[in-house]
Amino acid sequence: VTKHAFREIDPENYEEVYAFNLLHEYSFRDSSSAYKPDTEGERARKTQNIVDRLRKGDQSYFCLAVFKESSSEMIGAIFCDRYEIDKHPACHIHGLWVHPEHRKMGLAKKLKLDAEDWAKKMGSKFMDTNVRVGNQNMISLNESLGYEVARLNFRKTL
Ligand SMILES: CC(C)(COP(=O)(O)OP(=O)(O)OC[C@H]1O[C@@H](n2cnc3c(N)ncnc32)[C@H](O)[C@@H]1OP(=O)(O)O)[C@@H](O)C(=O)NCCC(=O)NCCS
Repeated sequence: VTKHAFREIDPENYEEVYAFNLLHEYSFRDSSSAYKPDTEGERARKTQNIVDRLRKGDQSYFCLAVFKESSSEMIGAIFCDRYEIDKHPACHIHGLWVHPEHRKMGLAKKLKLDAEDWAKKMGSKFMDTNVRVGNQNMISLNESLGYEVARLNFRKTL
């Protein structure tokens, strides 16, 4: 039994796209010590980019949100982008975020599974996503959903 509503955001509703972009920004804020908030100018530009891409209707973006029942409060979001990776049509997950008060209820899992259904329908051959090494939550969620490590990102402090 779920008391939450899942639906794609409406590109004609600027406030809603702005909120979606903000939740997307939070996925970086809550998973990286290097996070610096976007300026309002950057937020407006990123929001407009999502509006434009969704209006284009080419189904390259999938912007799925989850709302608290009986309110328009957006409490979770997954942002997907279809493009070629290693010469195959793929679906990259740019970000995933769930409000702290609504975590550990399976919302992120449902967002990811819905994204997979969409990507499969659109002809993507695989899902692709990046996770910080310290984000154990997300690493185990990915593993439980059948994701495998495809690439390692090495850094050296200079
Ligand atoms: C990572 C994040 C999206 C997970 O969201 P979530 O909705 O809590 O995730 P889920 O509930 O779907 O699954 C999380 C865990 O809760 C467990 N869980 C699900 N339902 C549960 C329940 N009823 N009781 C207890 N645990 C439960 C799941 O098994 C899962 O555990 P696992 O990771 O060991 O497999 C969320 O913590 C978040 O927004 N973090 C900050 C941003 C971030 O790190 N984003 C990802 C960047 S790559």
